[in-house]
Amino acid sequence: MRFKNTLFLLLILLSTNYSYTQEYFDDLGPEFHKKKRQEFRSLMPANSVAFIFTSPIMKRSNDTDYMYHQDPNFYYLTGWREPHGVLVIFKDDQFDSDGSYNEIMYVRERNEYREMWDGRRLGIKGAKKMSFDRVKLRSEFIENTIPIENFSNILNTNIRDDVRDFKDDKYDLFDIQNKFQEIVSKKESDILGDLNKQFFSSSINQIMSKLRQTKDPLEIELLTKAIRISALAQIEVMRAIHNDMTEREVQGIHEFIYRKYGAAHEGYNSIVGAGGNACVLHYVTNEDMDIKDKLILMDVGAEYRGYTADVTRTIPVNGKFNNEQKIIYDLVYKSQEEAIKEAIIGNSFNDIYLKSYDIIAKGLIDLGIINDYREARKYYPHGVSHHIGLDVHDPGSRDLMENMVITVEPGIYIPENSNTDPKWWNIGVRIEDDILITNSGPVNLSIDAPRRSDEIEVIMAQDSPINQLVLPDINN
Ligand code: GLY
Ligand code: MN
Ligand code: MN
Repeated sequence: MRFKNTLFLLLILLSTNYSYTQEYFDDLGPEFHKKKRQEFRSLMPANSVAFIFTSPIMKRSNDTDYMYHQDPNFYYLTGWREPHGVLVIFKDDQFDSDGSYNEIMYVRERNEYREMWDGRRLGIKGAKKMSFDRVKLRSEFIENTIPIENFSNILNTNIRDDVRDFKDDKYDLFDIQNKFQEIVSKKESDILGDLNKQFFSSSINQIMSKLRQTKDPLEIELLTKAIRISALAQIEVMRAIHNDMTEREVQGIHEFIYRKYGAAHEGYNSIVGAGGNACVLHYVTNEDMDIKDKLILMDVGAEYRGYTADVTRTIPVNGKFNNEQKIIYDLVYKSQEEAIKEAIIGNSFNDIYLKSYDIIAKGLIDLGIINDYREARKYYPHGVSHHIGLDVHDPGSRDLMENMVITVEPGIYIPENSNTDPKWWNIGVRIEDDILITNSGPVNLSIDAPRRSDEIEVIMAQDSPINQLVLPDINN
């Protein structure tokens, strides 16, 4: 009897799981992706075909993988979040016995057993609901070669050499990309003997950059949410942080708050570095246990429904900037304030950079930290802006246009043993905000998180409910 019940329950569970084919969360919606594919097509060269692949599954260790993350180009054009797929877009209508088509989406087949272990797959039916007319199984990409003989241009994404080969799966991305390589090589060798035919194998990146560099209203909405979540986390950390914490703990508060607000994860590895660690631009180990009385640089961004923020605040762990910390901090703040004003239509990243550099260089000369204007490069060694979106470093032009969302992030980093008075050593400051470019000037989307040194100190004097959480001591 007991056995029967268990069996019955198992059957219910299995059948529920298998018939569960609701769409993914996709706030952009099928119409957005369809429109973007149409815009992509309009930018394709004459008589061309484009192959866009899903991201590979990446091994973390043994049989454990990194969390799967769809390739942003693929997601932008499809809304599809499953691995082992290909999107083929044709410039012109194609015809066969079933009629005309201008794109084919290849997806994984459904598989009751695998879905029990790994979660649902949408399959052909699910893809059709997502605005694709022609959907085929990935096996067909391999078994029935795509007829590309008549195309003069093939656009592709780079074949990565780090695609994991699942030996028991003869239609995984590894096999799909092998097939693609075979098709392209054959085409290339066919062409070699016929110089009258033109053949280009080029990257889709240029087209994707044109599409993704300016954001639709829906994208701005999602980005704004991601940025707001990140700014609120910065505020809560300002309230909660104290001398006994560790870098890892501070990182954890940011990331906990992201999830409280429904963000799935971080848009990039969180950078939380105190003292000298703040001078390592992409410090992600976050393992310093002693942050007492140091400045801590927190470059962290929530990813909300695919869109990622990129917000940096640098604060004194004990709640008060000391004299040197405040001087350097206020200089970076002034540089950022003035640089943000340059984030206007008609300007380029370069205008923002030159403004930020000018203020930092003159300030460092006044402080006696450097003698020569060009020497500031040593303490401010990076660019000031990049696009954000589905990628933390989104593609796009350096010339500013309406509805771009970019960062403005000057910094000063003075590591130990720098050729200055040691009182400046181990101070690293970056302030980074996310700016929407509009017809009426820059709009700071991360404005919620205070930036002025005196405003930061006011927030840091407040209490946080996070500090009510006291866990058992496991060291004794
Ligand atoms: N978080 C990386 C950057 O600021 O570009
Ligand atoms: Mn950035
Ligand atoms: Mn950043």
